[in-house]
Amino acid sequence: MTANALSRPAGVAVAYHSGFGHTATLANAVAAGAEATGAAVSMIAVTGMSDADWHVLDDADAIVFGSATYMGNVSAGFQAFAEKTGRRCMNGTWRDKVAAGFTNSGAKNGDKMHTLMSLAVFAAQHHMHWVNLGLGAGWNSSAGSEYDMNRLGFWLGAGAATDVDVEAEQVHRADLATCRHLGQRVAEVTRQLVAGRAVTAAA
Ligand SMILES: Cc1cc2nc3c(=O)[nH]c(=O)nc-3n(C[C@H](O)[C@H](O)[C@H](O)COP(=O)(O)O)c2cc1C
Repeated sequence: MTANALSRPAGVAVAYHSGFGHTATLANAVAAGAEATGAAVSMIAVTGMSDADWHVLDDADAIVFGSATYMGNVSAGFQAFAEKTGRRCMNGTWRDKVAAGFTNSGAKNGDKMHTLMSLAVFAAQHHMHWVNLGLGAGWNSSAGSEYDMNRLGFWLGAGAATDVDVEAEQVHRADLATCRHLGQRVAEVTRQLVAGRAVTAAA
């Protein structure tokens, strides 16, 4: 076993669909969180993917899935991408990669939980290891505020709310911090897994 096997950066891909740019802004925050740990990060917009984009996902150690919530679920754009992975699902191409998810909707609740569950089920169908958000609920006491991380109180992944009439740059700063945290957490867990596999393989 070489020192490189233990210290190589985690390869984290962020695969997302965003119709109006809000979820894309959050995807950038996830990427920034992962990059802060030294991970090698790739951003993949899942509509209109090239062969090279598919290779990026196939080569990644972790894929963080993100979708806007439309009609209480992942967007049609994300679901079209999911259905294109059927062959990979059957072949186990993404088996044992790390996975996590985030979503954004207009309403504070907006049935986002359903979207996160769809993302987690999608990852499970690929036999991926789902990483939860790893934050307690914010904004749930008299001392809390909308600027708390995890202000909307999700555990399964990151849930954000953006007013439907604002620009992509106006995504709530607490939601950006929450997504940044998710990216960092995924990268750290992935690095531990990659290093652990190197040790196991050498034993
Ligand atoms: C077709 C459609 C369906 C939507 N359904 C929901 C919904 O179920 N719940 C909700 O809170 N917001 C819903 N919204 C609002 C979007 O989630 C919201 O505008 C979000 O910020 C869009 O993210 P995006 O800019 O990444 O596309 C919907 C928007 C559209 C266009």
